Amino acid sequence: MVERALSFGSVAEAYERFRPGYPVELLELVTAYAGGPIRTALEIGAGTGKATRLFAQGGIAVTATEPDAAMLAELRKHLPANVTTVQAAFEDLPLDSSYDLVYSAAALHWTNPEGRWARMAALVRPGGVFTSFGVPIQLSDPALKEAVRAARAPYLGYDGVPSPDGTPEDRPMQWPGTELEQSEWFTDVRQAVIERRLTMSADDYIGQLSTVSAYVMLPPADRDEVFRRTLEVLPETVEIDAQITAHLARRH
Ligand SMILES: C[S@@+](CC[C@H](N)C(=O)[O-])C[C@H]1O[C@@H](n2cnc3c(N)ncnc32)[C@H](O)[C@@H]1O
Repeated sequence: MVERALSFGSVAEAYERFRPGYPVELLELVTAYAGGPIRTALEIGAGTGKATRLFAQGGIAVTATEPDAAMLAELRKHLPANVTTVQAAFEDLPLDSSYDLVYSAAALHWTNPEGRWARMAALVRPGGVFTSFGVPIQLSDPALKEAVRAARAPYLGYDGVPSPDGTPEDRPMQWPGTELEQSEWFTDVRQAVIERRLTMSADDYIGQLSTVSAYVMLPPADRDEVFRRTLEVLPETVEIDAQITAHLARRH
């Protein structure tokens, strides 16, 4: 799992190029939930900085942390002035400062579950906000989704990341909201969805898949074959469901 968690660096440039960024509605959602000014934020697993730029654009002083040197190098190429970067995994962050906001974009599931919420609680100031959000990118058309699944099946089964605590997909509250609700340090747990549909070329869709850990971990020859077979069943442009699911909680 650690190997998979640190697999992104090899595709840092493709990650920056092909993964969709985060919309301003997300910043508005977090700001409205906070109910007061957010001056400082700590970002966990900042990657190439897609969410860093969103929160920095809101005038927040962001400390962006990321363990992977290649991802961090990509992030530093487009760095707003109010962002500080630190090369560190969540588990190694010093607990000597706390922030108005701590957030993690598509990265929390890679952190060690042991002691996760105690560490998080130490990093969020009392009354401050924690948020985690992710974007499972899916083809909108169910028939196309099935065709793509069948095309990759000989090489790769499930290409997502299973729920870290095994919460079934039909439950109203998903992970990490489930864990936050159980946590003694956080309250007012909410789950919010920002609907988003994108259109992209089949080539860009494959480019985006090339940054997804399940594909990054395949032997290169198998990966090429999966992408070749997938391209064969795709039309020139595809519709993507890229809705953002965010979990928000307030530190006691
Ligand atoms: C899917 S990428 C998300 C990057 C970025 N936050 C975004 O939304 O585009 C996951 C990131 O988590 C980082 N990561 C993996 N293990 C981590 C850990 N233990 N602590 C912090 N970040 C971690 C990876 O290096 C990678 O950059």
